[in-house]
Amino acid sequence: MKVLATQRFAGPAWDELDDVEIGTLDELREDVEALVVANESVDEDVLARFPDLRLVANYGVGYDRVDVGACARRGIAVTNTPGVLTDATADLTLALILAVRRGLGVGDRLIRRGEWTWTWSRGFLGDEVTGSTLGIVGLGRIGAAVARRAQGFGMHVLSVRSGATDDAVDALLRTADVVTLHVPLTPETRGMIDARRLASMRDGGALVNTARGELVDEDALVRELVSGRLQAGLDVFADEPRVPEELLALDNVVLTPHLGSATVRAREAMTRLVVDNVLAFERGEPLPTRVA
Ligand code: DGY
Repeated sequence: MKVLATQRFAGPAWDELDDVEIGTLDELREDVEALVVANESVDEDVLARFPDLRLVANYGVGYDRVDVGACARRGIAVTNTPGVLTDATADLTLALILAVRRGLGVGDRLIRRGEWTWTWSRGFLGDEVTGSTLGIVGLGRIGAAVARRAQGFGMHVLSVRSGATDDAVDALLRTADVVTLHVPLTPETRGMIDARRLASMRDGGALVNTARGELVDEDALVRELVSGRLQAGLDVFADEPRVPEELLALDNVVLTPHLGSATVRAREAMTRLVVDNVLAFERGEPLPTRVA
């Protein structure tokens, strides 16, 4: 089965694919039966360029840029890589919470600029994580793993599940010191953290996002951050790899380049799952992690 992948993915499992080509989704390819993508857009236009396509194997748990409905209409199966990146993403979430609340980014930059000239006892003060309230939006695998870690840090954990009522989400946003997002990007969740909800967050509160940038009204978030009223730890952005210019100079924001699953273990396990799905498809077996 001819497989086209948008890149070579990490780990030894990749070599188990015997007919894989690295390429783009831009050209008409009548020979390709399976695509491996890292949540690149697979919409009607792309599908039209692959008339023989039977499988889209997404490298990642989030497949929001794959038009699953269009795939289903054409009889194309879609798979993703759930579970194996849960711990890595939850770890990064806690890292961002700690970094934002304790000023790791600003402290690191200050030292590198040679500006640390005072005794420790006069240093700037952060916010204690222990005893603060964490609001988790989305209590799936990653949200639940964040909750377990946060309890270890002595945080009070509040949560709402994906699909919770608007009132429940509003109440969580108003109450938490730190809000962290763990819902998938869908038409219902796009922009759910809007200007009104951001404005309802506590003064000095922090928003942490390791899910998808489009969950948040990014312009409204930038305004809150520029004003200094809120803090943020952001691993994802609405138009990656573009990061709003205004954020670059802010000390109340910690920025990382979509590192949620970026550990050797997680990434190799993601490749393993992608390859298992492709091989199962070839053999006519049930797909291990089929989403459509
Ligand atoms: C995913 O799996 O959807 C992530 O964004 C990759 O870290």
